[in-house]
Amino acid sequence: MMKIVKIGLWILLALLIFIQFIRPEKNSGEIYTESFICNVVDVPENVEQILRVSCYDCHSDSTVYPWYANVQPVAWWLNDHIKDGKDELNFSTFKKRNLKGQLKKLKEIAKMVEKREMPLESYTYIHKDAILNPQQIKLVADWAKKTYDKLLADSLAKTSKTVEEK
Ligand code: HEC
Repeated sequence: MMKIVKIGLWILLALLIFIQFIRPEKNSGEIYTESFICNVVDVPENVEQILRVSCYDCHSDSTVYPWYANVQPVAWWLNDHIKDGKDELNFSTFKKRNLKGQLKKLKEIAKMVEKREMPLESYTYIHKDAILNPQQIKLVADWAKKTYDKLLADSLAKTSKTVEEK
């Protein structure tokens, strides 16, 4: 019986070592690309600062990885968050969305921070500096709402202008 347990443990150890070699590709591109959100709408410095600390690790093309991101299976788990996060919202490629998509994301940003659903709790558990205080939540939510209104108004103005010109 003891022998079986021992063999089992050795197999487990071998597996753990083996999976260290299967690494997901890292999210290590550029944050500030040509399609970065600043190239679509105004993002004041104090708002950008908050997004940088609390959101870009999962919502941009570049992640600052903690040391344990090199340990499997943690890296897979982190990678899933980054992939899902980027699929939903990527500040680095914001410009690539159409107007409707951009408006939708701005609305969601305000909602997510106000409901304290973002940044993810599993993230702020370790990244304490990413936790948003009430003023920061208000700052980001107000910015997102104001930007939504402005983007919509600008696009309506543009459309009516082209209609007039015709
Ligand atoms: C640890 C990674 C992580 C961080 C940090 C993070 N997010 Fe997310 N975010 C995700 C994941 C994963 C999803 C998709 C799944 C979900 O909705 O839970 C998501 C989804 C979203 C969505 C789309 C929600 C919807 O309605 O579908 C928005 C908007 C968003 N995040 C905004 C933010 C903002 C703003 C911040 C910073 C204040 C932030 N996130 C920080 C991982 C993260």
